[in-house]
Amino acid sequence: MRPKRYCNFFFVFVIISLISRVVEAESIIPFLSDEIHLGVSSCTSSTCHGSIQPWSDSNVLQNEYITWEDQDPHSQAYKILLTDESQRIARNLGLGSAEKEEVCLNCHADNVPEEIRAKTFQISDGVGCEACHGGANNWMSVHVSGSSDHKKNIAAGMYPTDQPLARAKLCLSCHFGTEDRFVTHKIMGAGHPRMSFELDTYTWTQPAHYKVDDDYVSRKGKILSVKVWAVGQAFAINTLLDAMTDPSRNKDGIFPELVFYDCHSCHHPMSDIKWVPRDSHGTGPGIPRIFDANMIMMKEILNRIDNDISEEFSIKVRKLHQSSIEGFGSMTESANRLKTLMENILELITNHSFTKNDMLSIIISLIDKGLSGEYLDYSGAEQAVMAVSAILQTLLDNNSISESDYFRFNSILDGAFEAIEDDESYKMRKFILSFKNLKSALKPLNS
Ligand code: HEC
Ligand code: HEC
Ligand code: HEC
Ligand code: HEC
Repeated sequence: MRPKRYCNFFFVFVIISLISRVVEAESIIPFLSDEIHLGVSSCTSSTCHGSIQPWSDSNVLQNEYITWEDQDPHSQAYKILLTDESQRIARNLGLGSAEKEEVCLNCHADNVPEEIRAKTFQISDGVGCEACHGGANNWMSVHVSGSSDHKKNIAAGMYPTDQPLARAKLCLSCHFGTEDRFVTHKIMGAGHPRMSFELDTYTWTQPAHYKVDDDYVSRKGKILSVKVWAVGQAFAINTLLDAMTDPSRNKDGIFPELVFYDCHSCHHPMSDIKWVPRDSHGTGPGIPRIFDANMIMMKEILNRIDNDISEEFSIKVRKLHQSSIEGFGSMTESANRLKTLMENILELITNHSFTKNDMLSIIISLIDKGLSGEYLDYSGAEQAVMAVSAILQTLLDNNSISESDYFRFNSILDGAFEAIEDDESYKMRKFILSFKNLKSALKPLNS
C-alpha cells in the first residue's frame, strides 16, 4: 500500500474557493501528440527546474528535478526494466530484454516515436517531465520568455496536469492502460505487480514536486482533493469499460481478460470460505467478480448528489455483473450501456461543488458500507481507505475540521491503512474496527 498523504501535510494550505473547471481532455494525449520531446536534461539547469533548494522568490519551487530524481519512482521507471525481476517477466513472456521491448517502454519511459526525439532526449530518463507535461519544443520558448503564465503555457501545448479530468486521463494511461499499452493478466502472470490507483492519493505520494500555496491557487485555482478523487473514480470506471468493450483487449483465447476481475476473487486460499451474497452484484458463489472497487465508491458519491442517476447506475452495474457470466456479447452490451451513463456522470461530477455536508455524508456512508461487509474483497477496502483519506484532506483544506481533529482522525485511519498494507494478508477485522472507531469520532461533526 501507499505511504499516507498526511506526511505531506506541510505542503497544504488552507483556502476556501471551490472552483470546478472542466477541461477538454479528449484531444490532448502528450505521447500521441507530434510535439518534439527535448528530454529531462533540457529542464534541469540550476536556473530552471534543477535548483538544489526551493527558491523563495519564485512562484514555482525550481527544484522539481531534484524531487523527481531523488524521490519520485517515475525517475526509476526505466532502470527498473534492467533488474532481474523485469528480465524474468520479459523472459516468461518470450520477449527479449525488457528495456528494449515496446510493451515495457510504453509505460516505463517517455516512449515517443524516434522522429520526435530531440538530440538531447534520452529514453533512459524513464517517465520524465515531458511524459506528463507534454513535448516541450513548442512551449519552451513561451515558457522561458519571462512574460509567460500558466494559460499561455497551456495554449502553447503544455499538458494541463492541474485539471482533474486531464490528470486522470494522463495517469491512468499508464496506471491502467489504453488501447496501445496494457498490463494484461498474462503479463501479471509472468510476474508484473498488481496495479492499484487512486488519483488524489497517488498525486500526493508521487511525491508532489510543487507546493499548493496562495500563489499556486491564484495562478491555477484551488481544486480540492475530494473533486480529484471523485473525477478519478469516474475516469477509472470509464477506462475499465473501454478495455472491456475493446475486442483487441477483452479476451484471451476462450477466457475473458482476467484483469477486469477482482484479483482476490480468484487468488485466495480455498480454505478461506468468505462468500456472502451482495446486493450490488446479484451473482452466485464460485463466480469471478468483475473489479468493482471504483463502482462501489461511485455509488456513494452519486447517492449523495443525484438520486435518480444513482439508481440507474446501480441497475446498470448489477446488470454488468450478471451479464459477465452470460457471454461476451452480453457483457459488451452491458458495458456499453454503463459507458453511456458514465458520460453524464463524469459531467455531473466535474461540475459539482462538494459541500461540507456532502463530504460528511459520503464519508459516513463509505464507512457504513464497510461495516455492512461490502469490502469483503481487498480492492474495495483499499479504495475506501484512500477515499476517506482524500475527504479528510479536503475537510481540512476548506476549514471544516481543525488541524488537531485532522490528525486525530488520521491516526484512527492508520489502523485501516495497516489492515490493507499487504493485499495477500488483508486484515478485515482490523479494518472494520478502524472504520467503527472513525465513525464514532466523526459523530460530533454530524450533529
Ligand atoms: C500499462 C503500463 C505498463 C506496462 C505495459 C508495463 N508496466 Fe511495469 N509498471 C507499470 C506501473 C504503473 C507500475 C507501478 C505499479 C504500482 O506500484 O502501482 C509498474 C511496475 C513494474 C515493476 C515493479 C517496480 C517496482 O518498483 O517494484 C516492474 C518490475 C515492472 N513494472 C516491469 C515491467 C515490464 C518488464 C514490462 C514489460 C513486459 C512492464 N512492466 C510493462 C506500468 C506498466
Ligand atoms: C508523473 C507525472 C509528472 C512528471 C513525471 C513530472 N510532473 Fe511536474 N507536475 C505533475 C503534476 C500532476 C503537477 C501538479 C498539477 C499542476 O500544477 O499542473 C505538476 C506540477 C509541476 C509544476 C508546477 C508547479 C506550480 O507551482 O505551478 C512544475 C514547475 C513541474 N511540475 C515541473 C516538472 C519538472 C521539471 C519535471 C521533471 C523533472 C516534472 N514536473 C515531472 C506531474 C508530473
Ligand atoms: C508514462 C507512464 C506513466 C504516467 C503517465 C504516470 N505514471 Fe506513475 N508510474 C509509472 C511507472 C512505470 C511506475 C513504477 C515506477 C517504479 O516503480 O520504478 C509508476 C509509479 C508511480 C507511483 C508509485 C507507486 C508505488 O507503488 O509506490 C505513484 C504514486 C505514481 N506513479 C503516480 C502517478 C500519477 C499521480 C500520475 C499522473 C499525474 C502518474 N503516476 C503518471 C508510469 C507512469
Ligand atoms: C478468474 C480467475 C483469476 C483472476 C480474476 C485473476 N487471476 Fe491471476 N491467475 C489465475 C490463474 C488460473 C492463474 C494460473 C495459475 C497457475 O499458474 O498456477 C493465474 C496466475 C497468476 C499469477 C502467476 C502465479 C504463478 O504461479 O506464477 C499472478 C502473479 C497473477 N495471476 C496475478 C493476478 C492479478 C494481479 C490479478 C488481478 C488483476 C489476477 N491475477 C486475477 C486466475 C485468475
